[in-house]
Amino acid sequence: YEGRRPLIAGNWKMNLTHLEAIGLVQKVAFGLKEPELEAAEVVVVPPFTAIRSVQTLVQGDKIEIGFGGQDLSTADSGAYTGEVSGAQLKALACTYVVVGHSERRAMHAETDEVVAAKVRKALEHELVPILCVGEGLEVRKAGEHVPYTTAQVDAALEGLDAATVAGVVVAYEPVWAIGTGEVATPEDAQEVCGAIRSRLAERFGPETADVVRILYGGSVKAGNTAGILAGPDVDGALVGGASLDADEFVSICRSAA
Ligand code: G3P
Repeated sequence: YEGRRPLIAGNWKMNLTHLEAIGLVQKVAFGLKEPELEAAEVVVVPPFTAIRSVQTLVQGDKIEIGFGGQDLSTADSGAYTGEVSGAQLKALACTYVVVGHSERRAMHAETDEVVAAKVRKALEHELVPILCVGEGLEVRKAGEHVPYTTAQVDAALEGLDAATVAGVVVAYEPVWAIGTGEVATPEDAQEVCGAIRSRLAERFGPETADVVRILYGGSVKAGNTAGILAGPDVDGALVGGASLDADEFVSICRSAA
């Protein structure tokens, strides 16, 4: 579908100081040509401590790379030690925010309800949520990955109207493929991304489903990007480990352009 511009987002997780972050963004920007940055949207998702530095660099040098946060609070302000609000991310000119990453679901007990509240908060602050869903190995072995994943999408978008959902990005990240080197096959990625789009069409109408970008994440590397992105419903990638290496990330972005 021509209306969906491919999106490559690098989730740095808890890596890099703000100084290292500047170096990486400079290298990525230097490695990509203007037409490539037009063809594919490139986004980095640094840890909170590096966002301000990335913002200063990107805005100062007019670099066509977007950025966002890895999480946001369900609250707006107040006594929430350690939390970061959507308003604070917006004030740093973030465009995106990752919501419901499996690491947060697993290590910070984020339930579907919490994830849904975070999606709402992101939208309220005009941040594009990158809603992460995906099954673990047990669910995959049981063959339940499609209903499991579409149920996560349902829960996170519960009660939103179609126009709002059109502004959400969904990332299918099977937990067994994250950081394991075990990438899903292009067919696996397409199967679930396609099922998510069908579910969005059922609930919010085909026009909305047509414009929502659905990414794949989990051991994406330069060598497997083209295959994964060949799926008609796979509109980009959420890249972890490989986004920390400038050359590798540039190659991934190039494959999407
Ligand atoms: O959010 C991206 C992610 O979880 C995938 O990580 O290291 O397998 O690319 P990685």
